[in-house]
Amino acid sequence: MARRVIETEATTEEKKTETSLRPRFLKDYIGQKALKEKLAVYIDAAKARGDALDHVLLYGPPGLGKTTLAGIIADEMGSHIKVTSGPAIEKPGEMAAILNNLKENDVLFVDEIHRLNRQVEEVLYPAMEDFALDILIGKGATAKSIRLNLPKFTLVGATTRPGMLTAPLRDRFGVVEHLEYYTIDELTEIILRSASILDVGINDRGAVAIARRSRGTPRIANRLLRRVRDFAQVRYDGNVTDRVASDALDLLAVDQFGLESSDRDLLTAIITRFDGGPVGLDTLAASVGEDAGTIEDVIEPFLLKNGFIMRTPRGRVATRRAYEHLDYPWPGEED
Ligand SMILES: Nc1ncnc2c1ncn2[C@@H]1O[C@H](COP(=O)(O)OP(=O)(O)OP(=O)(O)O)[C@@H](O)[C@H]1O
Ligand SMILES: [Mg+2]
Repeated sequence: MARRVIETEATTEEKKTETSLRPRFLKDYIGQKALKEKLAVYIDAAKARGDALDHVLLYGPPGLGKTTLAGIIADEMGSHIKVTSGPAIEKPGEMAAILNNLKENDVLFVDEIHRLNRQVEEVLYPAMEDFALDILIGKGATAKSIRLNLPKFTLVGATTRPGMLTAPLRDRFGVVEHLEYYTIDELTEIILRSASILDVGINDRGAVAIARRSRGTPRIANRLLRRVRDFAQVRYDGNVTDRVASDALDLLAVDQFGLESSDRDLLTAIITRFDGGPVGLDTLAASVGEDAGTIEDVIEPFLLKNGFIMRTPRGRVATRRAYEHLDYPWPGEED
């Protein structure tokens, strides 16, 4: 399968620069205005009470800033963060050990929290609710459970699939918030900020040109900025302008809506192989050789939000906008 030009997962190169590009405080976190305002209130209130912040669940598509926000919560609270992820913790004992090592008001960040297994998840229930660990000692008839107290901590969970969280886990989060795709203005601001940190010469129009094609996603914006910078260095005078950005992005096959080849392949398949739909997710996944989960979490949300596809009870349907964008004649009614 052809590897996508622009992945939404972080690459190794990215992990290096990501740390330097990550805002550390709420005031530097661009966009997500409503969420930021609420968090600021909760953080101030918790600090004034000298208490840990309530547990926070953040959900939304990849690359919108969930990990960044978890770090900000810890920094704003003046506490430490311990980072782990659902698939990394296999045994209940591992989770118990992590919890037991936390200090008062620490933040425990669990990425991909929907991937915790059931036994591990059950360790979290009393930990989140009563700040306690229930430990079973001995075996058989003489076994007894003892309760260990934990310091008050804040669990920050992140997920791209909130629907896959069990109800008991979801219910134990006091704050449940959705991250939105970013506007062009917000992405422009993020790009200008990143360019100044990376010492890349860029003008406003260059930043807007990149922002327009960033799929509403800061991680993609930062990635495109780096690619365009390379292009500016090698073929131009090093400065990113409108023209340099457009040329570079054309070369990367990112179109004017930010759609990349995987997006266009998906739309083309619905149009040409399924008469525009409706087509079920699994059939579509098999047809384009993508994983159904990747389509649902990574590719589809942006296409839905921008009106290129619709979800119906019988499957996905390509809209008139998709036909027109890909230059296929619209078979539906004229309006
Ligand atoms: N609001 C923001 N302001 C400025 N930069 C941001 C913002 N949100 C994200 N970024 C940048 O985007 C990059 C990706 O963000 P982050 O790793 O937090 O995303 P994520 O939602 O955790 O993604 P994933 O789900 O893939 O883990 C970060 O390096 C950060 O520099
Ligand atoms: Mg992350």
